[in-house]
Amino acid sequence: MVLLRGTLAPPGDKSMTHRALIFAALVKGRVDIDGALLSGDTKASALALRKLGLSMTIEQKERGADIAIVSPGIMEIRRTFAAGAPACLFDCGNSGTTMRLLSGLCAGLAGGSFVFDGDASLRRRDMKRILLPLSELGAGFRYLGAEGCAPFELKGERLKGGDFNLLVSSAQVVTALILAGLSADSPVTVSTPYVVRDHTVRALRFMGVDIGSTNAVRQTANALIVRPLHGDLAPCRFSIPGDISSCAFFLVAAAILPGSAVTLLNVGVNPGRTLVIEVLRRMGVQIDFLNEREVCGEPVCDLFVQAPAALTATDITAEEVPSGIDEIPALSLAFAFAAGRSTVRGAGELKQKESNRLKLLTDNLQGAGVAVEVYDDGFAVQGEGYLAGGGFWRTDLDHRLAMIGMVASLAARQPLMLEEKESCAVSYPQFEADLKSLLV
Ligand code: S3P
Repeated sequence: MVLLRGTLAPPGDKSMTHRALIFAALVKGRVDIDGALLSGDTKASALALRKLGLSMTIEQKERGADIAIVSPGIMEIRRTFAAGAPACLFDCGNSGTTMRLLSGLCAGLAGGSFVFDGDASLRRRDMKRILLPLSELGAGFRYLGAEGCAPFELKGERLKGGDFNLLVSSAQVVTALILAGLSADSPVTVSTPYVVRDHTVRALRFMGVDIGSTNAVRQTANALIVRPLHGDLAPCRFSIPGDISSCAFFLVAAAILPGSAVTLLNVGVNPGRTLVIEVLRRMGVQIDFLNEREVCGEPVCDLFVQAPAALTATDITAEEVPSGIDEIPALSLAFAFAAGRSTVRGAGELKQKESNRLKLLTDNLQGAGVAVEVYDDGFAVQGEGYLAGGGFWRTDLDHRLAMIGMVASLAARQPLMLEEKESCAVSYPQFEADLKSLLV
């Protein structure tokens, strides 16, 4: 059987690249980004920002892109829409992050009309979760197709403040409300049931925005208060670390292919994203943090991962899910290689991603010979220590399903028939080449 050996610098973090691009709209002058991810999703954000009046040059380097943005500043953008700028049409492609974050920014651009649309997958995803709270702040909206989904028109308004106890632990919804709150005329507070990735808070604090914590009042670890922004932010430079969600495929591959040992350079290890590391460690995998440092307010390190002699089964609880929501699909493959029953509960959000990941994953694992029990909010895998393979691996054009399928193919006893690989371009265009570069 093959194994993975060597060192790799993974592509730039997708969540952080979206934020650096979109938050540049708040700055008057220049924002430089290095290490940015250039993929289908982040290009959708870049294109949308050009429509808001930002200009940018993009230079693809060997690892990550250098992006230089010149922004008129949020004050001028607000003035332009108040003076009757024409409607903007945003094609967000496959990118839920572009659609939801940009909606938060545009909600406070009074006088503006913004039409948001996307591909077939994005048109199926829930947008009520942002449009209802944004409308409570005063923004107007109407669905142009199916209720609750894109395409929709958002009308920017003078926003008032508000207080939100969200039912869903979503960093995208939190970010949309923070961005809207910066344009409101009184504070916005927002909390989630469980802790979510806090890239937005870290990036905005790095840019000089005062975002407070209201934990004392709310008695939760994840309550924030955003105050109105009355001026432009100053120019800044973002260095984007590697994407832990992209690393998850190599971490899992190294865990299930005996004899593997891989170093992943310059990886962002935001505590809201590290469940994949915690779970693999619980399963017996050695993962070391090397050269720990802080870059632009984010924890960063090199990761060393080594295959264990055997993998142990484990359980993922509802509270843990948000910090591994994008990596649970890859972890489910590791569960098949553990001895015993592993479970995931409280993960109904998996149904709401680029595909219904709960259904596709469990169908694919069953098709590859794994005993899987499916619940409404999760699943259980009865690991046998190997993957029989031999089945069809469906992706529904979901990038993460395609990449897991490629890893599963390496580890399966019988070949898998993978539906497609092209969707990798959404988050990791050179995934196949990088995976091959580590194969021994
Ligand atoms: C993201 C948050 C998560 C994640 C998505 C990116 C972000 O979505 O699944 O890939 O950049 O904030 P939710 O906020 O819907 O949980």
